[in-house]
Amino acid sequence: MTFSESTRERAREIVARYPEGRQRSALLPLLHLVQSEEGYISPDGIAFCASVLGVTKAEVSAVATFYTMYKRTPTGEWLISVCTNTMCASKGGEAAYQALVEYLGVEHDGTTPDGKITLEHAECLAACDYAPVMTVNHEYFDEVTPDMAVELAKQLQAGERPVSGRGARLCGFKEISLQLAGFPDERRGAITDGLPGEPTLAGNRLAERHGISVAGFDPDTPIPATRPAGDAGGAGKEEAKP
Ligand code: FES
Repeated sequence: MTFSESTRERAREIVARYPEGRQRSALLPLLHLVQSEEGYISPDGIAFCASVLGVTKAEVSAVATFYTMYKRTPTGEWLISVCTNTMCASKGGEAAYQALVEYLGVEHDGTTPDGKITLEHAECLAACDYAPVMTVNHEYFDEVTPDMAVELAKQLQAGERPVSGRGARLCGFKEISLQLAGFPDERRGAITDGLPGEPTLAGNRLAERHGISVAGFDPDTPIPATRPAGDAGGAGKEEAKP
């Protein structure tokens, strides 16, 4: 595959972010950039990164195969990742995952025949406070049930772009890959900001109640306010530009 001139220009921009002699560190965003054009990391994408950075294809492959965010086969427009790690599994994550397996007719790393949805079970998505969680193109959906998971899949199949539980309106896999390469989401309301949710602070409150703190931490540090239950938080609630 020949990469577009805009991708080549962006690759130069990414490499220029790093100091002389440290530019191989640009590999991670470059791999996301490749995914933003191809939808996965193809052999051509590996060769592209290698030639941009002056490293071997083996070195690029070693990185691309290490991180699960880099996909080695064509990925659907919507990547649904359901956490089935301990906390989520014990709270229903496995049931949500199995409901999607049944509804979509694909297993782990499988893509629906129309190429729209790729399903995967994921290791801890670092959001155990909202277990069970799933992400769609890396945006979170919290405390999911099997019915919620299937309903979300139906919305995606219908061409809708639902709003994440605490993020922006969803964007496609290639679009989010471009953001992960370090290019901002230009949509209005795309940047999320806001207060933490109550489940995130539950541990702090427990520690406060029992007078527990880590060394060097001022126990009088106020716990921040939380957003009301049901509030998605931040600007993600706003309508995004098409
Ligand atoms: S175990 Fe699911 S987010 Fe941590």
